[in-house]
Amino acid sequence: MKSKRTMLAAATIAVALTTGMTVALTPAAGAGTTLKAAAAEKGRYFGAAVAVNKLSTSAYTTILNREFNSVVPENEMKWSSTEPQQGVFTYSSGDRLVSHAQANGMSVRGHTLLWHAQQPGWAQGMSGSALRNAAMNHVTQVATHFRGKIHSWDVVNEAFADGGSGGRRDSNLQRTGNDWIEAAFRAARAADPGAKLCYNDYNTDGINAKSTGIYNMVRDFRSRGVPIDCVGFQSHLGTSLAGDYQANLQRFADLGVDVQITELDVMTGGNQANIYAAVTRACLAVSRCTGITTWGVRDCDSWRGSDNALLFDCNGNKKSAYNAVLDALNGGSTPPTTPPPGSGVDTSAWYVLLNRNSGKALDVYAAATNDGARISQWTRNNGNNQQWQFVDSGGGYYRVKSRNSSKVLDVSNFSTADGGAIVQWSDLNGTNQQFRLANSSDGYVRLINRNSNKVVEVQGASTADGGNIVQYADWGGTNQQWQLVRIG
Ligand code: G3I
Repeated sequence: MKSKRTMLAAATIAVALTTGMTVALTPAAGAGTTLKAAAAEKGRYFGAAVAVNKLSTSAYTTILNREFNSVVPENEMKWSSTEPQQGVFTYSSGDRLVSHAQANGMSVRGHTLLWHAQQPGWAQGMSGSALRNAAMNHVTQVATHFRGKIHSWDVVNEAFADGGSGGRRDSNLQRTGNDWIEAAFRAARAADPGAKLCYNDYNTDGINAKSTGIYNMVRDFRSRGVPIDCVGFQSHLGTSLAGDYQANLQRFADLGVDVQITELDVMTGGNQANIYAAVTRACLAVSRCTGITTWGVRDCDSWRGSDNALLFDCNGNKKSAYNAVLDALNGGSTPPTTPPPGSGVDTSAWYVLLNRNSGKALDVYAAATNDGARISQWTRNNGNNQQWQFVDSGGGYYRVKSRNSSKVLDVSNFSTADGGAIVQWSDLNGTNQQFRLANSSDGYVRLINRNSNKVVEVQGASTADGGNIVQYADWGGTNQQWQLVRIG
């Protein structure tokens, strides 16, 4: 018999689901339910780039404050923003971000003191010692203004060339002399001795000519006592990840500097969640990798536009990439909880089934307990109506039993049609209630019904809460693929 407390909890979940709220249930010991909590368990921070004018949008700040404990201004501390006319400094936007961070227990990464881009017009037109003096004055003034409030500064951003040269990027700053970078680091140290001082760049995601050029500079700085504490790897990523991503982080760490993932975003598509997870695991595997920052909060906040490169969709829903990062943070360096291909499922375990396309969980709508109740997808909350057990029917087939109702997934009326409804029903061990698991890539599986030979899918590839679950001909779509996340 259920205790009063369990019943109360179940009732709360039912109410929450029907009102569209999500519920954070008590997590397993040591598992964080937000990015910042899970990262903190591993001694890391989880950050986001913030557009300061969005701090007045509650849908934005709700996610920011719930999930992130580090911020970096996307644009507001760049040279063009902080010194629009020579000697005239404007700090209001940066100050606003610092206040928000302090009020919400977040650390601040300063971005960026010197960069070839986003320079004010007056600096773009300068050269030689006039530019060098103006640049060093800029470093000193800005680092002094924010002194004591910045955890780490991107002192210099993107000073190395793309391609195979391994050398510096040509720029007005570079033409003032090769020592401009070390001069900037020394000026920053003098102005704010408490801030960690970092070099930050992109296309440094593996061991390549550009990252090696930077590596050689950092090694040289360390050997000569130029004050550098950290290196940022922006990690604006496409559809694959360099195989030596972790090894590259490690070789920098071995020079005695901290490393951070500073501007992470990943091209949308079937590999997005896997790449996010792999980057997270790489950071956790390098003890001096102290944190991860995504370059924005929701897809629509991103400079990458239609790449949909972030962890939250435009409505603020968590994407499968979010779940992948959270699981990676909670699992440390242990890869996913999906059973390895061919190993079958553990019939004593409880699983949450996450759809590959939407990132949402298979869910008995409104925690119903009656025969015929509809099955939907819903934002993962680990409720009992999102937990499923595989009951062995023999021959490689299983019924899929709800923890909340004890009913099983059922193709309604033994339909063999595309779009046939999937409901829950009392366990009769009918062939319309039996499913076998077929492996897709990256640990995802399809659930194939024994009677109809069709697969369980999210109808119309919906990504919305309440999206319908039906059967459809198996075409390998990501809306037909599920990750089995073992939670009990
Ligand atoms: O605010 C003005 C607005 O008033 C004006 O009407 C409009 C016209 O285009 O421009 C607005 O400024 C834009 C600014 O973003 C704020 O939205 C700039 O044009 C635009 O160039 C700027 O882009 C930023 C870009 O850096 C260049 O500074 C992106 O938001 C920002 O995400 C991007 O961030 C960089 C990192 O700093 C360094 N690493 C790469 C990363 C991505 O490119």
